[in-house]
Parts: sequence; C-alpha cells; structure tokens
Amino acid sequence: MMQPRAVVMEEGKDPVSVTKTSLSRALSLRILVICLLFMVLGVGLSIISMHSVRFSMIPQIAAKAPSTVQPWFEDATNTLENFIRPPSNLMYNMNDIELLWRASFVPQIKEYPFKRVPKIAFMFLTKGPLPLAPLWDRFFKGHEGLYSIYVHALPSYTGGYPPSSVFYRRQIPSQIVEWGRMSMCEAERRLLANALLDISNEWLILLSESCIPLYNFSIIYHYISRSKYSFMGSFDEPGPYGRGRYNHRMQPEVTLSQWRKGSQWFEVNRKLAVDIIKDTTYYPKFKEFCRPACYVDEHYFPTMLTIQLPHLLANRTLTWTDWSRGGAHPATFGKADITESFFKRIFEGKSCLYNGQPSTICYLFARKFAPSALDPLLGLASKVFGY
Ligand SMILES: *[C@@H]1O[C@H](CO)[C@@H](O)[C@H](O)[C@H]1NC(C)=O
Ligand SMILES: *[C@@H]1O[C@H](CO)[C@@H](O)[C@H](O)[C@H]1NC(C)=O
Repeated sequence: MMQPRAVVMEEGKDPVSVTKTSLSRALSLRILVICLLFMVLGVGLSIISMHSVRFSMIPQIAAKAPSTVQPWFEDATNTLENFIRPPSNLMYNMNDIELLWRASFVPQIKEYPFKRVPKIAFMFLTKGPLPLAPLWDRFFKGHEGLYSIYVHALPSYTGGYPPSSVFYRRQIPSQIVEWGRMSMCEAERRLLANALLDISNEWLILLSESCIPLYNFSIIYHYISRSKYSFMGSFDEPGPYGRGRYNHRMQPEVTLSQWRKGSQWFEVNRKLAVDIIKDTTYYPKFKEFCRPACYVDEHYFPTMLTIQLPHLLANRTLTWTDWSRGGAHPATFGKADITESFFKRIFEGKSCLYNGQPSTICYLFARKFAPSALDPLLGLASKVFGY
C-alpha cells in the first residue's frame, strides 16, 4: 500500500517510478477505452430499444406485463395520459398545504393536446352518511364520464357505500370540522382542491347531504356548461345579518362596500376554484375577523370573488332553500311534505337572469330534505324531475 503512494508522490524524480507511472497510464487508457466501448454499446442499445418500443406492438404487452424490471425508457405507460391521470385512490397522503399547492397547478397553454370531455364535479359536504344517496344514484345513472363525485364527511364517520353506488370510494380525507367556522371553508377548499386534481373537472358544485337535484342530468349539465357565469350567491345586504357582520379590522383588504353575503352552496368553474384555493390575502382576514355571529361560509367566497373576478359571477345560487319560516335555520322537509304540488310551488313563478336573458329555470337543486323524504322522492322522481 505504501509503495504506489510513494511513487505517485515522487513522480518525475525517480526513473523507475516514471516507468511504473507510464505503465499504469497505459493501463488506465485501456480501461477507459473499454468503458467507452461499453458506453457506445449501451447508447446504441437504448436507441434501438426506444425505436422498437415506438414502432412495434410492445407498448400493449409492456402495459400488461408486471412492471418489475422494466427500464424507464421501455415504460410504455409513460404517456401524457399517465402524467395527468387523477389519483385512483382518493385517500391520498398529503396535508392541506401540500394538497392546495398541488391543486393550484394551472396549464398555461389554453388548448388541450387531447380530446377533453369537461365534467361536473359534485362535491358533498356532509357530517356523516348521505341518506338520499339512492336518489342521486338514479340521477347519475347512464351519464358516466360527465361527472365526478367527492365526499367530505367528519373524520369520525367511518361508514361506506356499496360498490354499486356512485359514492363508492369517493370519500376524501377530512379533518375536524367545527360546523359554521373557518374549518367549514377549509373543508370546502379541500373538496375544491381534490376536484381540481382531475383535469377534466370543469365545473365544481358544492352540495350537502340534504340536497336533491330538481332536473335530470342532461338538463343540469346543459344549464351549467352553457352558462357564461358561475353561480355564486353574492349580494350586499344592509342590516345586522349582512353588513352588520362586517369588521372594520378587515381593511384595507376588505372594505364595507366590498362586503358580500351569499349562500354557502355554490357552483364555480376551474378558474374560480383555483382562485379560491390559492388565496392567501383574504383567508387570514376572514379567519381572524369573521367569527360567530359572523358566518364565514356565507361571506368569505362571495366577498373574495366579488373583489377579484366580479364579471364572472351570476351572483345567485342554484340551490333552492326555504327561509320563509324565519330563524337561523332553513326549513327541512320530510315524508309528509313530498307531494307534486310542493314541487310545483318550487318550479313555478320563478324568474331570474340566465346569460343576461330572463329564465324560469333558476334552481337546479333544492334543500333541505330529511332522510324520511327518500321514499316519496324516489316515487315522484321520474314524473316530477325527469330521472
Ligand atoms: C331530461 O328531461 C328533459 C325534459 O323533461 C327531457 O326532454 C329529456 O329527454 C330528459 N333526458 C333524459 C336523458 O332523460
Ligand atoms: C355580479 O355582481 C358584480 C358586482 O358585485 C357585477 O360586476 C357583475 O356584473 C354581476 N354579475 C351579473 C351576471 O350581473
């Protein structure tokens, strides 16, 4: 061990060591040549393999074969489709910060390099089960490929849905939700972020376990996809339940004249959804200064979007709710309420603007319906709702 080191150190001084050095040089040269040969061979082989992958039927075979020892360049599943495929398992392992960051990716080239069929994401915010699931199952039947479903329940809820249900394995990881506080908006942002991970989701609707669809899928898809605006309720309400909930400490981000109120149940397109999940300007203001009796889920998104993108909002919700009984909670309807004439009252005498034109179709969904309403609703659905 000592000798070669001494040789190197005394290189050039001792003729013996010079000869040794040139000998070892010749050796290294030979090793280098051999290495180069292997490299050339390797590159040549890779090029040949790449071409054979591209021009033969190998992709299909490779896709089916278990991918144990496939080198990366032969991986035929490495296609664009694969890169943008939404996660098949919704129970991902990301925290909220990671999830929102990942969901905020937006393509900068507007044209999609593939045929994209835009879908509606139905996002259910619920405490536990979805008692009206059989009605929704019927509503979605036959429209596969045009919708996605996401369910956010309280973490304590462990129930599931049968494989035959559209809700099967559509639950996303949730965190403690204090009903009516900022964590409600956090849950909504979590739902939006999940839906954004699927590039084909173009319109995102927030619903609750007590919501029902008032029309068949074709009509709802048509109505939402042809709208120039997103259906976020947003209005300036004087009085204690509107402007009265405003806190002057939200300035300068939010002024009193910018303060808005709207239903928690909204429909937004991808653009607005990204705006909501990426917000770090208004979020801390609402978190700190909109606490009961300020209900953040009725003010945060309407106010924020009205400040940022007012021209994209229809300023009305698609979800019918009956506040006529007064009080803090809307009316809930059960078995005895479900009659044809009840829905006639919901459908008739309505007028609103749709793409700037007067329309009699103003609400696509309605709430609140108790679990006991399920059976009569199933009985009436085909006649009254068309599904
Ligand atoms: C949906 O309802 C409309 C109007 O009631 C009807 O014309 C249409 O055929 C229905 N579509 C489906 C797929 O049932
Ligand atoms: C919604 O309200 C905003 C202002 O609050 C307005 O700029 C926008 O034009 C309204 N949208 C429609 C469809 O009228």
